[in-house]
Amino acid sequence: MERTSAARAHANIALIKYWGKRDGPGNRPAAGSISITLDALASNARVRFDPALDRDEIRLPDGADAARVAAFLDAVRARAGIGTRAEVLSRNDFPTGAGLASSASGFAALALAASRAAGLDLDGAALSALARRGSGSAARSIFGGFAEMRAEGDDPHAVPLLDAGEWPLSVVIAIVDSGVKAVGSGEGMRHTASTSPYYAAWLDTVAADLPAMRAAIEARDLTAVGELAEANCLAMHGATLAARPGLAYWRPATLALLETIRDLRAGGLPVYATIDAGPQVKALCAPEDADRIAAELAKVSGVKTTRVSGLGPGAHTVEPDAVYCLKS
Ligand code: PMV
Repeated sequence: MERTSAARAHANIALIKYWGKRDGPGNRPAAGSISITLDALASNARVRFDPALDRDEIRLPDGADAARVAAFLDAVRARAGIGTRAEVLSRNDFPTGAGLASSASGFAALALAASRAAGLDLDGAALSALARRGSGSAARSIFGGFAEMRAEGDDPHAVPLLDAGEWPLSVVIAIVDSGVKAVGSGEGMRHTASTSPYYAAWLDTVAADLPAMRAAIEARDLTAVGELAEANCLAMHGATLAARPGLAYWRPATLALLETIRDLRAGGLPVYATIDAGPQVKALCAPEDADRIAAELAKVSGVKTTRVSGLGPGAHTVEPDAVYCLKS
């Protein structure tokens, strides 16, 4: 029987970073992580399992990895106990390859669309564990608002902490370089774990930061959340810079943005930086300050563009036709 399903999911930014895997397949994290899901950056996926197909037909945005999606479909088929090939269409409603992480939103949307199309009805935890197999951070994009990836167990998954509406926050994304990154996150993690003298200290840092971040979110304390997020991000990059050879994801404008954010803070504006495995800087702030912060960050030399995002929803199904209508 032929089945089609479509879904939409949003990207997320980690406040406590995932940077290191356990041995073995399936992107099992070495430690937990905490993120916010962003409404401005979404991916859409449509999946059709069709017995008439003799191979998977995968259409992705430019720059996305079809082999990774094919391997992910194998995981869905294994789980559903089927061998049927699939047609996959995946689109981002933000510029792909613009330096905005799309693997989290992409694999979260794909996990929901593919599992439904394969006849599975997974709960949030099982869906999150499935999305993790595509990309570790995708496990968190199954949930909206604030989510925590738990590291325990053989098949780890994320859990929701707060819904988007429970504590509105904004993120200003400053795009420094839109090129494809030279060292992907998987390779960067492996290199850091196997060569950085600070990797063990990084894992200790995460163990201490997770309960502190949970408490700060629970208290809706922007200062505590922001200070922890910025410090945790700098610790991740510190461990990565100390790898051998050192791995630097930053550009000069990345550092200039960090300085500008500190200057704004010194001037009384609550704004905090976080940076993933690339040169872009994301500034965490209260919604009423976002436009002013975006205007300040746009003035920094080397910044190409800025985007403002609020917090977004978790993965949800959409009408299959909706995926055709969206621009790539
Ligand atoms: O999900 P991956 O394999 O792309 O790894 C994500 C790594 C970071 O973005 C740097 C941190 C995180 O927790 O999202």
